[in-house]
Amino acid sequence: MILYNDILGTVGNTPIVRINKLADHKRKNIFAKLEFFNPGKSVKDRIALNIISEAEAEGKLNKDSIILESSSGNTGIGLSIVSRVKGYPNIIVVDKNCPNEKIKLLKALGATIVMITTEKNDSEDLTERRIEFVNQARDILDHVFVPNQYENPNAPLAHYKHTGQEIINFMEETGIYFKAIFISVGTGGTISGISKRIKEFDPSIQIIGVEPLGSTLFGGEKGPYLQQGPGNYFQPKNLIYHDIDLGIKVSDQDAFNMCRRLALQEGILVGGSSGGVMHSAIDMCNEIAGNVLCVLPDGGEKYLDSIYSDKWLMEKGVVVEQQNINDVHILNIDGLTDYSEFIRKLRGVVLKDEDQGTL
Ligand SMILES: Cc1ncc(COP(=O)(O)O)c(C=O)c1O
Repeated sequence: MILYNDILGTVGNTPIVRINKLADHKRKNIFAKLEFFNPGKSVKDRIALNIISEAEAEGKLNKDSIILESSSGNTGIGLSIVSRVKGYPNIIVVDKNCPNEKIKLLKALGATIVMITTEKNDSEDLTERRIEFVNQARDILDHVFVPNQYENPNAPLAHYKHTGQEIINFMEETGIYFKAIFISVGTGGTISGISKRIKEFDPSIQIIGVEPLGSTLFGGEKGPYLQQGPGNYFQPKNLIYHDIDLGIKVSDQDAFNMCRRLALQEGILVGGSSGGVMHSAIDMCNEIAGNVLCVLPDGGEKYLDSIYSDKWLMEKGVVVEQQNINDVHILNIDGLTDYSEFIRKLRGVVLKDEDQGTL
């Protein structure tokens, strides 16, 4: 066993698991790197730690510094963890599309939260508005350090030094080599860092970027999308296209239904960008002669009231393919000591027998 001197020591070295049932009609050649094993439950802990540590090393932070960043939520959570350990106050600028669960986590982690909102189009991406706010606040507030995940080279560098290297170590230690790696794209930090390291190791490994349909990182028409974290309407400086072989788009419908399937068939609870990456990999894996790795950016706990809510999906017009997320069966025990009738019916519910399965 290892003793970690603080929680930051547990960032990175996330596991890789085989995907079994989802792809079993094809070959069992799909693997997933689970970034929700990081302490803030997402890939973004890696960049938060590297950006702040490097800024400290460069003398850009002092005891009066305030950390200020725009985030769809996960970078804010990572930065809040790093800020608490290192003792800086921090301000996180989210927008109204940020899931409530992420807001609650930011609060619990002691961040000061600013939420940008508008009465306009429901699913319009507000990233650029958030960045505008940060740029104005930076000029007005004193002692502010803006990590700027969209441009700071220490974001992709975290993935070059660690995530990419971990994938190489996995291949060398297990003998399981990947022909293609599917990576979700937002700021570009993850894909740019991993692709640079992987192409140095073996340029024949395909790097495939995945963005929401409606995002314009790989061209195409701008439109609304519900996947939180990936995608943008502008091309961040940290998105380096040089080592990306292919950019593909995935609809909310396909991404969210794949989240449901990952949970129900593999027991892997993840967010929408992970569903998007996995959908794309399963769609393309027969065209790729060899093993495929999906980097899954975050866990599903932050989306229980959205992606994992039939009601929310239906309100948003997403067709739910597997509407079998179970109800809670309430047993009122007032005046009741014999539960046998309830228990007998429960059997029908568990086995999904429609004649006997109503409680
Ligand atoms: C859940 C989720 N998936 C994917 C991404 C995209 O990762 P990157 O910004 O490194 O391109 C993000 C970024 O915020 C995210 O939060």
